[in-house]
Amino acid sequence: MVYYVRQGKIPLTRHTYDSRAKLLMEELFGEESFDGSYSLLYHRNEPTRIKSIKEIGKKRLKFEVQELHKMINTDAVKREGNFFNGRKPLFGNEFLVISILKPSTGTDNFFSHGIRDQLFFVHRGRGKFKSLLGEIVFNEGDYIYVPKGTIYTLENSKEAEFLLIESKESITIPSRYLNKFGQIKEGVPYYSRDIRPPTLKRGGRLEGSYDVYIDFDDKYVVETRDRNPFDLEGWDGYHYPFAMNVRNIMPIVGKVHQPPPVHETFSSKSFMVGTFLPRKYDFHERAIPISYYHSNVDTDEFLYYDSGNFMSRKEIREGSITLHVRGLIHGPQPGTIEKALGKEETNETGIMVESYERLGMSVEAKGLENKNYMKTWYE
Ligand SMILES: [Fe+2]
Repeated sequence: MVYYVRQGKIPLTRHTYDSRAKLLMEELFGEESFDGSYSLLYHRNEPTRIKSIKEIGKKRLKFEVQELHKMINTDAVKREGNFFNGRKPLFGNEFLVISILKPSTGTDNFFSHGIRDQLFFVHRGRGKFKSLLGEIVFNEGDYIYVPKGTIYTLENSKEAEFLLIESKESITIPSRYLNKFGQIKEGVPYYSRDIRPPTLKRGGRLEGSYDVYIDFDDKYVVETRDRNPFDLEGWDGYHYPFAMNVRNIMPIVGKVHQPPPVHETFSSKSFMVGTFLPRKYDFHERAIPISYYHSNVDTDEFLYYDSGNFMSRKEIREGSITLHVRGLIHGPQPGTIEKALGKEETNETGIMVESYERLGMSVEAKGLENKNYMKTWYE
């Protein structure tokens, strides 16, 4: 993360105590061993105090690489399960998993992804993200970033729907957006002020029985604790979950059509996440305001259609997903360029994931496929 946050009560100096009678248990919470971003957390209990531990098997993630462009609609994805066991993985590879989540129930259990950073996008609904480091109220259009290892739970309204991106590699703010001091630069679509860190809530019940489900992709390890895992007196540092709403992202526009990298929101080693937002179109008097044809030679391009009217695509509605694979040309469908000429603005919101590794499709995604998609460029 890009700025320092300090919450609750913490010792004056790191790795020391202020009061021997009220000794706090310090934990370093970070990524990339001791070199990445980190925070120092101060627990009231030993964070390693685990009463019992067991393993629960999970379905193996399997994705098949595609040679043709694909389109699916997620309307038929069943609303079931809670925020972690109701995830439906649709696209992915070894590094990246993209799921749709429509939870039907809440849960008293806690969750932590053992090996993946998570990035929720709130398509519908609202709720509260509650974590060891504090709480974040969320609404439609929010991204919620959750670093791997964060213990949390999610309360959501009954109509809530999420797009979920889970990555073994860290998800970060693009390094080209930061100056040499680590501050978000001018000329970038968002600013540090748009990032909402959690607010620490102290003083909850401590003793009891608490299950924490830790996800290792092919299994859950379930820890039963006799102390509430949310037991921090305070924390400080650069590593924490946060939310950011797409309405606070200011899209970059140009005199002629701007390429997808100007819409980048988050980056990772093997993919980037971009956000297409309502914006004024290009202002050259003869501008063609939609995308030109392109061959994504080194990327597979995933696009989730969140809301609005999608000008360059036919048969697309809210909740649709397209996958445009490398090696095959794609672009506007017949008639859409002519229709776009003279248009001044768009109201569309879409989430793009450009994967530098081959992006495969799950059996569940295959079941949602619109088989006519390749023909939509001809008819
Ligand atoms: Fe494209």
